[in-house]
Amino acid sequence: MKIVIINGPNLNFLGTREPEIYGTQTLEEIESKIQKYAETQEVDCSFFQSNSEGELIDRIQQAHMDKADGIVLNPAAYTHYSYAIHDAVKSIMIPTVEVHLSAIHARESFRKESVIASACIGQISGFGPTGYLLAIHALKEVIK
Ligand code: DQA
Repeated sequence: MKIVIINGPNLNFLGTREPEIYGTQTLEEIESKIQKYAETQEVDCSFFQSNSEGELIDRIQQAHMDKADGIVLNPAAYTHYSYAIHDAVKSIMIPTVEVHLSAIHARESFRKESVIASACIGQISGFGPTGYLLAIHALKEVIK
């Protein structure tokens, strides 16, 4: 089973960025934790991060071309206003889980709305890096 883990803008700054909200682990450390978990689940994971909307859309389309089985997507701030990423997820037939490190519904009001969620099979928010593992678990259940 092939799952693509896609992270959006400013997530390359994890570890440094607002650690009281996002924790102290770097993206590299989180990806390595995901990789270890994926191996125990016999899931083949690919990782991608970009600060640019177009690159995120290209990677989502690439997942379709590569016949990926699932996508775990943290669109970061694009969550709240990118109809283009919503449309990209809708354009492909790959089950996608939206993940947020922080509890977006317990934060500023602009973070409560996700324009991506309605294109996804589900949303996981507030469990820190564990959210990515939960998303892989959920995708495995849905895909099998
Ligand atoms: C985030 C939440 C977003 O509101 C924010 O813009 C991010 C990170 C999260 O993982 O908690 O960049 O997606």
